Amino acid sequence: MTQKIRVGLVGYGKAGKAVANILGADPRFDLRWIARRSANAEPHPDTDIPIIGIEQQPFDELFDLHPVDALVDFSSPESLHAYGEEVRKRGIMLVSAISAYSEDDLAYARSLGRDTRVMCSPNITLGINFLIVAAKLLRKAAPFADVEIVEQHFRDKPEISGTARKIAETLEVDAEQITSLRFGGIVGHHEVIFGFPHQTVRLIHDSIRREAFGTGAAFALEQLANCDNGFYTFDDLLMRVMRAELLEGN
Ligand SMILES: NC(=O)c1ccc[n+]([C@@H]2O[C@H](COP(=O)([O-])OP(=O)(O)OC[C@H]3O[C@@H](n4cnc5c(N)ncnc54)[C@H](OP(=O)(O)O)[C@@H]3O)[C@@H](O)[C@H]2O)c1
Repeated sequence: MTQKIRVGLVGYGKAGKAVANILGADPRFDLRWIARRSANAEPHPDTDIPIIGIEQQPFDELFDLHPVDALVDFSSPESLHAYGEEVRKRGIMLVSAISAYSEDDLAYARSLGRDTRVMCSPNITLGINFLIVAAKLLRKAAPFADVEIVEQHFRDKPEISGTARKIAETLEVDAEQITSLRFGGIVGHHEVIFGFPHQTVRLIHDSIRREAFGTGAAFALEQLANCDNGFYTFDDLLMRVMRAELLEGN
């Protein structure tokens, strides 16, 4: 049997709690601890996984006491600088889901890729990343088709979805092709519509629960474990799987 990947999770807020549910229940991983800003090493309510406050126990001590193979970060941009050099020194894999890295943060994360395996993704759901790759392929195959992007979110979301903007950018269509609808409590709906002269293709992704972030982190961990040191995006990891699958089919 292959060895479980020992994982430390940083961040135990709205996303981190859902991610802990997924990683804690996945037999491929051994979720050793969860770190947040401040805590008294309270155990997870349903498990004996310790929840540790970084203000009480810094990362170097934490890694000495409870070694891990991988770190999954759902906290804040500043954490990267608190654990970065330890991750580099110890060769710990890093899956960072932080959406708001500055250019400098990203440059630093890239630099860690010289010494260990790093993946950063501002959108870590497997489904959205698959939709983007599939849409990119169809756009290449049918550059003549009209493209429209529809995004739907809960009533109070003020801005246009960043994911919809990324889709538009990737497909090289104008942001004007994005239609935003706001109503009810929709968690997140993205749809790319390809209008051909004699047919229509719709690629749709619906977010249902935050646990989807955990599924994405689990995918990234498994893929990174088979990569060389370097800096990767979610696309890079997904394309590795797709390429391998296509080659096998030939
Ligand atoms: N890539 C994606 O698809 C994706 C999806 C969802 C969220 N995210 C990102 O995940 C992060 C968290 O989102 P959220 O909605 O869960 O936020 P949240 O509810 O505010 O939770 C943030 C968590 O991070 C912890 N934290 C913050 N700074 C820390 C530090 N310096 N050291 C250790 N722990 C720290 C907080 O600790 P305390 O509990 O002690 O305050 C809290 O547990 C954000 O950066 C967000 O952009 C990304």
